[in-house]
Amino acid sequence: MRSVVRRSALLFLKLMKRNDIPEFSVLPKHIGIIMDGNGRWAKKRGLPRYEGHIEGAKTFRRIGEFAADIGIKYLTFYAFSTENWKRPKEEVDAIMQIFREYLLEADDRKKENEEKGISLRFIGERKGMPADLLELMENTEKQSRDKSNVILNIAVNYGGRHEITQSVKEIARKAVKGEISVDEIDEDMISKSLYTGGIPDPDLIIRPSGEYRISNFLTWQSAYSEFWFTDVLWPDFSEEDLIAALREFEKRNRRFGGV
Ligand code: FPP
Repeated sequence: MRSVVRRSALLFLKLMKRNDIPEFSVLPKHIGIIMDGNGRWAKKRGLPRYEGHIEGAKTFRRIGEFAADIGIKYLTFYAFSTENWKRPKEEVDAIMQIFREYLLEADDRKKENEEKGISLRFIGERKGMPADLLELMENTEKQSRDKSNVILNIAVNYGGRHEITQSVKEIARKAVKGEISVDEIDEDMISKSLYTGGIPDPDLIIRPSGEYRISNFLTWQSAYSEFWFTDVLWPDFSEEDLIAALREFEKRNRRFGGV
């Protein structure tokens, strides 16, 4: 009996929540988000930079869930670039620790991701990542492998140029071995060999914190992406900001080079 009451209460809450989800005439299939401004958020408050990353990780979870509720099928969050290793060791260690803790919250996250049918994936160079984190990443991917409502990519140790270079090497090796001919190499083959192979290119890329650049994020994949910028720092990025980006996206006239 108690479980029936609990189930009805949960269903009620779910329906209530669904009513809060806005409708859009057109939605991007894939959104890429550059989580920028954590350091400045912390500095403004006289806090160490890592506090900004802790807050940024909370925003990542909140916005990821909200985007999934809205019906976005593919999400890619830029968490750590191949260039971010240049930061002070304490900051790099703190970011890795936040990431570790997120992956260790297995039960909570699994439940939440299972309910929403979220499959977690990681894109980026695995070499160079701490071994324990690698194992956690692989286990997380395995656990959520068959979920298919939403694919949530976290870009860690990711660099767009590095990704393209890896892809070129892989294709060149095949050509040298005679498995493919040089003339067979086309855009489709390159797309498929990237970390995002099989996932549609991002329709919309969001960058907060008042910076107007791509910073080596989804370099190949963003050829025809729409961009949306805001001065809001990532830890302060709200559901309303995502809605504003999506409202703007509704108005964009995408021509992909046509007329
Ligand atoms: C860029 O802001 C942010 C990063 C390099 C780290 C982002 C990492 C997280 C949000 C944590 C990720 C955790 C999970 C679980 C995915 P910045 O430090 O460059 O900000 P600034 O430009 O204001 O200095």
